[in-house]
Amino acid sequence: MSERKTVDYIQKKKEEGRKITMLTAYDYPLASLVDAAGVDMILVGDSLANVVLGLDSTTEVGMVEMIHHAKAANRAVKQALLIGDMPFESYQSDSDRAVDNARRFIDEAGCNAVKLEWFDRCLEVTEKIVKADIPVMGHVGLTPQTAEQLGGFKVQGKDADSARKIIEYSRALQERGVFSIVLECIPSQIAAIITGQLTIPTIGIGAGEHCDGQVLVTHDLLGLFDRFKPKFVKQYTDLSASSLEGIKHFCKEVEEGTFPDHLHSYSMNSGELANLKVGK
Ligand code: KIV
Repeated sequence: MSERKTVDYIQKKKEEGRKITMLTAYDYPLASLVDAAGVDMILVGDSLANVVLGLDSTTEVGMVEMIHHAKAANRAVKQALLIGDMPFESYQSDSDRAVDNARRFIDEAGCNAVKLEWFDRCLEVTEKIVKADIPVMGHVGLTPQTAEQLGGFKVQGKDADSARKIIEYSRALQERGVFSIVLECIPSQIAAIITGQLTIPTIGIGAGEHCDGQVLVTHDLLGLFDRFKPKFVKQYTDLSASSLEGIKHFCKEVEEGTFPDHLHSYSMNSGELANLKVGK
């Protein structure tokens, strides 16, 4: 049986100056593909809400949905470190509940770590989960669960004061024991400062080229989601177009009677068929 990458492996990549890859997956087929490609970390992200469930906000998914999807991804993942994204309201109100919910990602869903977004009591909660021996990934900059408080979905840390805060949050999270940190939608100069100051790996999304690694939402890079497309998304292929072509082809063949043909049908041997007709 193959083994999953570990937190130590991810951190060693930073020490060795090797870039780290991370992508999202929320189900068996996509997690199988992402894992087979050799991606270092797979995030069962709460972006599930937008790209799979068609909801408007990541705040609309909870533990039920996240655990259900993390279990599906877990069945596929062989070599990547699997991270469960803690959903809105699963860790903010009560730190004991936060630890219990983090443990569910590990024990029930088979994840190797959890991720949680920055919020005002983030340090206390992070410390408690880390002390429970659960590896935690931090997330600063644009934090979608609290985007409204940040003035909406826009680049964070563009002025010196707000940039200083993001740098401080990142340092504080490292001190509380996170093994890595996502930097979302911040100027690349700020990401470079954070990456240079921290010993743990930074994983950027809309944070430029200086981060130790990069993450994207897989549905975005495959062209499977077009409701909105932030500047930082690079679409590497267009699965929507090829899928649409395949689906239309199926409809055409069914309508004209060319599918299924004998290659895709079962048959009975002629003797048995004759018996059936005689016996009725
Ligand atoms: O939910 C998610 O997909 C994320 C990544 C964009 C980092 O949090």
